[in-house]
Amino acid sequence: MQDADKHLVTKRSQPIGVFDSGIGGLTVAAALRGLLPAEHIYYVGDTARVPYGGKSAVTIERYSLEISRMLLAEGAKLIVVACNTASALAVPMLQRELNVPVIGVIQPGAVAAVAATQNQCVGVIGTRATVQSQAYERAIRALKAEVRVETQACPLLVPLIEEGWLEDRITEQVVRRYLDPILEKGIDTLVLGCTHYPLLFRVLEKEVGPSVRLVDSARNCALEVQAVLGAGGLAAPASHAGSLEVALTDPSTAFLRVAEHSLGLNVGEVRVRPIG
Ligand code: DGL
Repeated sequence: MQDADKHLVTKRSQPIGVFDSGIGGLTVAAALRGLLPAEHIYYVGDTARVPYGGKSAVTIERYSLEISRMLLAEGAKLIVVACNTASALAVPMLQRELNVPVIGVIQPGAVAAVAATQNQCVGVIGTRATVQSQAYERAIRALKAEVRVETQACPLLVPLIEEGWLEDRITEQVVRRYLDPILEKGIDTLVLGCTHYPLLFRVLEKEVGPSVRLVDSARNCALEVQAVLGAGGLAAPASHAGSLEVALTDPSTAFLRVAEHSLGLNVGEVRVRPIG
């Protein structure tokens, strides 16, 4: 076997690196595990610095680069930015700086929204940084110019989710307060523009009612990863038994086990990897 071929065979067995500010990106990891069972996934949740959503672009870029380098040190062959905030603000920089493919979640979410809307009026909820970046408006309009996009920042949702208050009266009240104004705009599709939000699916579904479809990026993101791996000859051999390994930058999140249960994931032992 030629050296170049040997290199490719080794590379195919390397992990897909996935990161989020916390445990929300596990919703994307679950979709990756479902679609690509042969792949080894190395997930980093930056729990020491969650939430990213209220921070400046410069800080989000710096955090994203630091976590991506952690993933490269684990041998990541591709990086999935399983965080809308980091996708909205840091993906172009990561694509310039890193020598592996980098896939964010904004484009897959936009594709899901355009496919779902019938009345061409889409709502997007996300962190303040994601909403302010207008990344979803750009991505959705680039796909279909006539779609109207209404956005709403929901900064209290990530802390409630990281706290494990998934089906709680307080969470319901907060959700109602955020969603009422955007529902009045006549949307028929709501993009969960934060990878934490699918964990609130039941509360959100109840609040929006049957006439609004909830969509998120996870499945389309996994499909994009599959396509990029395939095109680059980087997919793990089908005979591999894939796995999920989780590292956190701080051991603080007791909620990890709840997320694991609610997503049907087998996380196993969690490593703590402090930054720096
Ligand atoms: N899961 C992240 C996202 O998709 C949460 C961001 C945050 O930490 O505020 O935006």
